[in-house]
Amino acid sequence: YLDRVIAPSLLAADFSKVGEETSRAIHAGADWLHLDVMDGNFVDNISFGPALVQAVHESNDIFLDVHLMISRPDHYLPRFIAAGADCITVHVEADHDVADTLKRIREAGCLAGLALNPATPFADVVPYLDQIDLLLCMTVVPGFGGQAFMPEVMEKVQAASDYRKEKGLSYHIEVDGGINVETAATSAKAGANVMVAGSTTFGMKDMTAAITAIREA
Ligand code: DX5
Ligand code: ZN
Repeated sequence: YLDRVIAPSLLAADFSKVGEETSRAIHAGADWLHLDVMDGNFVDNISFGPALVQAVHESNDIFLDVHLMISRPDHYLPRFIAAGADCITVHVEADHDVADTLKRIREAGCLAGLALNPATPFADVVPYLDQIDLLLCMTVVPGFGGQAFMPEVMEKVQAASDYRKEKGLSYHIEVDGGINVETAATSAKAGANVMVAGSTTFGMKDMTAAITAIREA
């Protein structure tokens, strides 16, 4: 019942022209821009940091959905806030005081997001669901774009949707990894409203058609 949000992931963009790629996404109808921050420790890849988030923030005007796949999100939080993040999502599996980090994100005026990996049970995030604005259910093991969607995660999306209704909460439910027209439809049916897509948006020549197709899925 929260409206459909399409958030292309910059990880799939041409890094030699990040500013132009961001405006391409905006003109193609993106609602948010998903920024995958990876530290080479929490996940087996290194992508970019606060400096790139700041560059995107200064070069374009779009809601920045920052996904911190890093081990110490609390330590780096001030720099991502200063860089212009609008939503900051941290992993429940990372090495921090989850409730404290979420509180600090909200105190900074950003939306607070909580992410869980495919292997992490829904029970692990339940203690925090009344303190977040967004729940990110990873539909691939984080670290790389272009992976296959994991359908077993839909049980978790459905559980998050049921719990939200039961408790009268209003967090967004975001899915991330392997999202295309078919898997977006499956995810929406289970209760997700924010669709992150990299290879099926930035990876496409006609990004407008790609975003429109996912939105209408
Ligand atoms: C993976 C990232 C995803 C990924 C999505 O660790 O969190 O956002 O970039 O890429 P696709 O849509 O290609 O799976
Ligand atoms: Zn992501």
